[in-house]
Amino acid sequence: MATKLRALITGGAGFIGSHLSEELLDRGFKVTVIDDLSTGRKENIAHLLKNIHFKFYKNTIMNEPLMARLLRNSDIVYHLAAAVGVKYILENPIQAIITNVTGTEKVIRLADKYHKKMILASTSEIYGKTVDSASRESDDRLVGPTSVNRWSYSNNKALDEFLALAYAKERKLPVVIVRLFNCVGPRQLGRYGMVLPRFIQSALDNRPITVYGDGSQSRTFTYVKDVVWAIATLSLSRKAEGHIFNVGNDHAITINDLARRIKNKTGSHSKIVHISYAKAFGKNAADFEDMGCRIPDITKIKKAIKYHPCYNIDKIIENTINHFSDQRKSHENI
Ligand SMILES: NC(=O)c1ccc[n+]([C@@H]2O[C@H](COP(=O)([O-])OP(=O)(O)OC[C@H]3O[C@@H](n4cnc5c(N)ncnc54)[C@H](O)[C@@H]3O)[C@@H](O)[C@H]2O)c1
Repeated sequence: MATKLRALITGGAGFIGSHLSEELLDRGFKVTVIDDLSTGRKENIAHLLKNIHFKFYKNTIMNEPLMARLLRNSDIVYHLAAAVGVKYILENPIQAIITNVTGTEKVIRLADKYHKKMILASTSEIYGKTVDSASRESDDRLVGPTSVNRWSYSNNKALDEFLALAYAKERKLPVVIVRLFNCVGPRQLGRYGMVLPRFIQSALDNRPITVYGDGSQSRTFTYVKDVVWAIATLSLSRKAEGHIFNVGNDHAITINDLARRIKNKTGSHSKIVHISYAKAFGKNAADFEDMGCRIPDITKIKKAIKYHPCYNIDKIIENTINHFSDQRKSHENI
């Protein structure tokens, strides 16, 4: 029998990490997760804990002796642990930089030390203000000043990419960088400002669906199952090493349209209301600058691994509504 590949997923109890755990277990991997549960939740992986090929460590990536041991005992590290979400980053600016820069540096250094393959989760925020036309991996970046905290995340992740590419070049570290574009689906939390779960939860409660700004801004959404398929497939491709890939869906929808579709599909009595960014983000509003639409150019990943997003916006909304409805029913039955 072939030996199983051993995956280490940092941030594996988070939204994307928990789906990646499932994807890799389905593909026959052994999976180890390290997560400090700062934004992740144990219930995201509760169904995996009985699987003999799954292990969970509630700990931080800052714990270098533990990370060294976990890296030594793995074949591929998927580095997803990060301080994430507009609201969280605005409210915890120092911790966000420490996690996203110092934490990532530790993971890259250890991956190099033990000669392990690494997948680095980056973000479309990298592109900054470049909006409304599809962004290619080689495009210029346009970001705001350092006095505006909102740009910290973009620059922290850019520094991670620089470091990973430097290790790839100088030390031959086999690394693949994935720039994720607005990933959505079951287990994503609304409380950090993510729009889709926030709207769905309001609709299910028949509370007002609150749109920030006038709602004419548009967004693309990528279903988490498409994202983890892409991450897993790229991680097994030798040709992908040393490369950056956009992972996203290139169909855009306005926030007003999104709110209407969610209201219709849930049969909700919610009103759709609009509030200013100043009201939504309070004292941090000065730091907040809304973007036009960021659209990924996915030519490169299509060519590399025949990636094709399988879930359109209606399917994404339906699956996510079903997830929240099921969750509510199971809480009612406790
Ligand atoms: N969700 C998206 O749309 C999106 C878009 C672009 C990039 N990303 C990237 O994907 C990755 C996963 O994001 P997500 O959306 O699943 O968010 P998430 O908050 O659900 O996942 C991040 C996980 O990292 C964990 N974590 C944070 N600090 C840690 C530490 N010091 N040690 C151990 N664990 C720690 C959190 O508890 C959480 O479980 C992140 O790197 C994020 O930057 C996500």
